[in-house]
Amino acid sequence: MNKITVAIDGYSSCGKSTLAKDIAHRLDYIYIDTGAMYRAVTLYCLKNNLITADGKEVYKIEEFLDDININFQCDPVSKKCEVFLNGEKVENEIRSMTVANNVSLVSSIKEVREKLVSIQRELGKAKGVVMDGRDIGSVVFPDAELKLFVTADAEVRAKRRYNELRGKGDKVSLEEIKHNLEQRDHIDSNRKESPLVQAEDAIIIDTTDLTRAIQADMAYDLVMERVQLKGRKA
Ligand code: DC
Repeated sequence: MNKITVAIDGYSSCGKSTLAKDIAHRLDYIYIDTGAMYRAVTLYCLKNNLITADGKEVYKIEEFLDDININFQCDPVSKKCEVFLNGEKVENEIRSMTVANNVSLVSSIKEVREKLVSIQRELGKAKGVVMDGRDIGSVVFPDAELKLFVTADAEVRAKRRYNELRGKGDKVSLEEIKHNLEQRDHIDSNRKESPLVQAEDAIIIDTTDLTRAIQADMAYDLVMERVQLKGRKA
């Protein structure tokens, strides 16, 4: 069967990664969480004190980029992919509020984006990939056969993230999460370098009232349509 590229974009915590994981699993595609890559670079900046005390700037990131090595290791059975920063698994650390509070700043830097976009293109070269983020359909893979733009009600998104972090033992408040999501959405949508936009040819999936299974079915049907279309064109 033909393999395609599935690009999933949308605001923070609207269910992109859950949907991406589910369809990648069903299709036996690889899943790449590009947010995890921006979070890993942010963790590197925090660990190396590259972020100014006011949290508004990053010192000389261009000089450090060659020292930042990011890769994924995927379990062949569960298909779960975990992100590694310079050989160290950082999957848990990158989900902290400290990283969440700084990631939009770091991901607005041109040189950071150039480095990560080039890794993302390499990872998706062979097709059979589901990639989620903010600029996948618009910048990373503008020719993706299927582009989805995922949305959800702001309140629902904050509660989902709250339950996820609380479930991991993080003592975060709902207010703190709401504030973080609003801020990130604002910066991610208004930055100069590849802001979050809905690609013109993207299909919107609003996950507010949809069960996980229904979302996955909808996306799977869309993938199958595109796979058949590609087969007819070939
Ligand atoms: O998907 P996430 O919430 O883990 O992403 C964290 C941040 O990374 C998000 O606030 C903006 C940035 N990001 C980006 O700028 N471009 C992407 N393709 C993915 C994430």
